Amino acid sequence: MKDPMHSMGKPSPSAIRSYVLRTGRIGSGQRRALESLAPDYVVPFEASRPPGTLAHLWPDRVRDGPLIVDIGFGMGEALAAMAAQHRDRRFLGIEVHPPGVGSLLQRIETLALDHVRIVQHDAVPVVQAMLGAASVDAFHVYFPDPWPKKRHHKRRLVQRPFAELLASRLRPRGYLHCATDWEPYAVAMLDCLSQIAELRNAHEGFHPRPEWRPLTRFERRGLQLGHKVWDLIFRRI
Ligand SMILES: C[S@@+](CC[C@H](N)C(=O)[O-])C[C@H]1O[C@@H](n2cnc3c(N)ncnc32)[C@H](O)[C@@H]1O
Repeated sequence: MKDPMHSMGKPSPSAIRSYVLRTGRIGSGQRRALESLAPDYVVPFEASRPPGTLAHLWPDRVRDGPLIVDIGFGMGEALAAMAAQHRDRRFLGIEVHPPGVGSLLQRIETLALDHVRIVQHDAVPVVQAMLGAASVDAFHVYFPDPWPKKRHHKRRLVQRPFAELLASRLRPRGYLHCATDWEPYAVAMLDCLSQIAELRNAHEGFHPRPEWRPLTRFERRGLQLGHKVWDLIFRRI
């Protein structure tokens, strides 16, 4: 499968601007974690790293373990909870929000998660440049910003060609798991992912909430507001 971004004729990793960098306050613990732990766990974005050369970033113990990538991990609670349960896997979190990166670093320290790495950068160019074809076992995209206004729909992360790019990075039988509490986005994702030839829906329609997906901060907030939650799991053929 060709790189979908390049096959568009106009390679434009920045075509989706799916986030706004808020200037919110950063906690002192998050700041300390960013200063002291980032050198060990935060991997610089490199546009020209040859695909497949990330393996040495993780400890030898997990070097051959499945690679799980969480895109937009927020404050990192779901990623940290999964990493604490699966110490034989490699986890990569991608997030642009500095307090979130600080928060995940704090969890890495508290829970001794030496098998988690972070890239603090826009996920679109990160996936495009740093992850090799058929190298990822799972992508988690939990509660991506819904961009509810019609004129902002183009800013949604889960749409073509990014979804095609994710599909190209999955190993056969690897999966893309999305969840949202915004029904119109859930419907749009189902429509988009169903049209990607390399992906197969693991369920008919929306997936029942897998009990192994930890509750995320945004999910908790949505549930408190009375929102429903929709899960989608699509496998690479
Ligand atoms: C609504 S929050 C959800 C966070 C978390 N997954 C959760 O469920 O609590 C969406 C997150 O995605 C991040 N984000 C949005 N677009 C991104 C991108 N292109 N690259 C990396 N992170 C992104 C935002 O900074 C934000 O933290």
